[in-house]
Amino acid sequence: MKLRINTRRTALAALTTLLAATLACMAVPAAAEDFPGGRAVTAVVPFAAGGPTDKVAREIGLLMSKQLGVPVLIDNSAGAGGTIGARKVALAKPDGHTILIHHIGMATAVGLYRNLGFDPLKDFEMVGEIADVPMVLLANKSLPPADMKALVSYAKANAASLSLANAGIGSASHLCGLLLQSALQTELTTIPYKGTAPALVDLMGGQVNLLCDQTTNVAGQIKAGSLKPYAAMQPQRIDAFKDIPSAAESGLPVEVKIWHAMYAPKGTPQAIVDRLSAALQSAVEDQGFRSKMADLGAQAVPAARARPESLRTHLGNEITKWTPIIRKAGVYAD
Ligand code: MLT
Repeated sequence: MKLRINTRRTALAALTTLLAATLACMAVPAAAEDFPGGRAVTAVVPFAAGGPTDKVAREIGLLMSKQLGVPVLIDNSAGAGGTIGARKVALAKPDGHTILIHHIGMATAVGLYRNLGFDPLKDFEMVGEIADVPMVLLANKSLPPADMKALVSYAKANAASLSLANAGIGSASHLCGLLLQSALQTELTTIPYKGTAPALVDLMGGQVNLLCDQTTNVAGQIKAGSLKPYAAMQPQRIDAFKDIPSAAESGLPVEVKIWHAMYAPKGTPQAIVDRLSAALQSAVEDQGFRSKMADLGAQAVPAARARPESLRTHLGNEITKWTPIIRKAGVYAD
């Protein structure tokens, strides 16, 4: 009899432990289950309003807002080539209500900053990729060279007086400028801005001569003929801008494509990351978004790339690719 009671007690204790462990695994924090709980999501854009990153962010934010049922507010926290905004999100509360929308700069910053203040792979949860955007080298219309070939000789003869705008060390325009100067074997005078939106104003006004920018920012000026496009900064021409020769046609071995992605602070519950990624996947598949990006020369990613695991692989590969290239150029931001 005694033996039987002990056996029953042991079995009961084991069952209770098993039940408790099962419930613990199933118990997702209430906040995660209720996310977004009626509260807005803030998307930090690490460049000035009105620029290419801001444009992608606002378009995708509107669509995600419909999926999440709450506003997605844009917070332009610019400066230091995008690293100020990225660091702000790395330090934000991991509750899903603060996310980062950034581009290739998340990968290039590793090679450019000796004291970056965050680790792009370790200090963020990956949400997913958004869109790929090509770059074009443009000049104010008053610059004499008629084409890329003439610009190459003009740059060599006038390097000291030729100015090239960018959005700070670590920005896409800075990276493009690095590749251009390396291909020209000529160092130009670079002028940093808080984004390529303000840089474009000075390019149009003639305060700066050249800018390498994303087509999402300069499509209007290209179509209106109010700037002089020299080359698409890739081997082939851009479908939406077939009249612009490619860098390869102009003898420039330059290839840069600006991928954009979304991140959350490390420690954001997986259920919330999954909810954000599901909203992002629906947004990138929206036909209106895909055609708007195509009209601007860009390409929305397929839903398979708007996923955490795909972004983690891509970001890792891009850090591996760009760090030696940047280190070889011997450029540091700090
Ligand atoms: C911007 O949004 O202003 C650009 O992404 C800046 C840059 O990276 O060149």
